[in-house]
Amino acid sequence: LLAGSDGRSLAGRHAVVTAGPTFEPIDPVRGLTNRSSGKQGYAIAAALAARGAVVTLVSGPTALAVPVGVTRVDVESALDMQAATTAALPADIAVLSAAVADWRVDTVAGGKIKKAPGGPPTLSLIENPDILAGLATPGPMRPSLVIGFAAETTDLEANARSKLSRKGCDWIVGNDVSGPVFGADGNTVLLVTRDGAEAWPRLTKTEVASRLADRIADHFAEPTE
Ligand code: CTP
Ligand code: CA
Repeated sequence: LLAGSDGRSLAGRHAVVTAGPTFEPIDPVRGLTNRSSGKQGYAIAAALAARGAVVTLVSGPTALAVPVGVTRVDVESALDMQAATTAALPADIAVLSAAVADWRVDTVAGGKIKKAPGGPPTLSLIENPDILAGLATPGPMRPSLVIGFAAETTDLEANARSKLSRKGCDWIVGNDVSGPVFGADGNTVLLVTRDGAEAWPRLTKTEVASRLADRIADHFAEPTE
């Protein structure tokens, strides 16, 4: 049995983690995507597995290897990510760290769109479903602890708090992306719960993952929370 540094364990718990960007096709050779290396989500998946959880990692396209003890499901689009995340349920824990593209092209061209003398094409976009809000909706399949991320360049706490209530999740990891974050190994986060907000010092993504996994293990060790 594997446990955290002070013996906290997630043995017997199932965690679903989303990570990386999504890729929304425009035609067979082009697409819309978000900036995300996937490093933070992969580190969280690894930290949960190291504490004994069964981990399903639903991942958009990244250059990362599957962490030890983790089952990865590869997806591209937000719709695929939503289907794979839902298919992975039931779960006790959901950590949705993926940088999901907010929009997709409403009609994907079957063949490559050619440059034309009339100028560039106009892309018509439609909104993708909110995977986090859907998962956090009360019901028999809702994981008991649903954690989202909020990547913000300004007003981190206010934006994180409004996402917490709007999406109905339990915790938000607020992510300050005004500095160098994408692809970097360090991260500055604010953990927002219904009880308050806690600023963490600048840590490596591995350290953020380890702290978050400890918090998750504490949560399940204290059924009164
Ligand atoms: N998220 C999701 N599905 C979406 C969009 C976002 O599951 N279609 C999740 C992300 O994985 C993250 C959280 O919602 O955990 C917040 O994502 P973010 O992009 O910060 O929030 P949005 O509601 O999309 O708001 P905006 O991009 O306008 O700030
Ligand atoms: Ca978004």
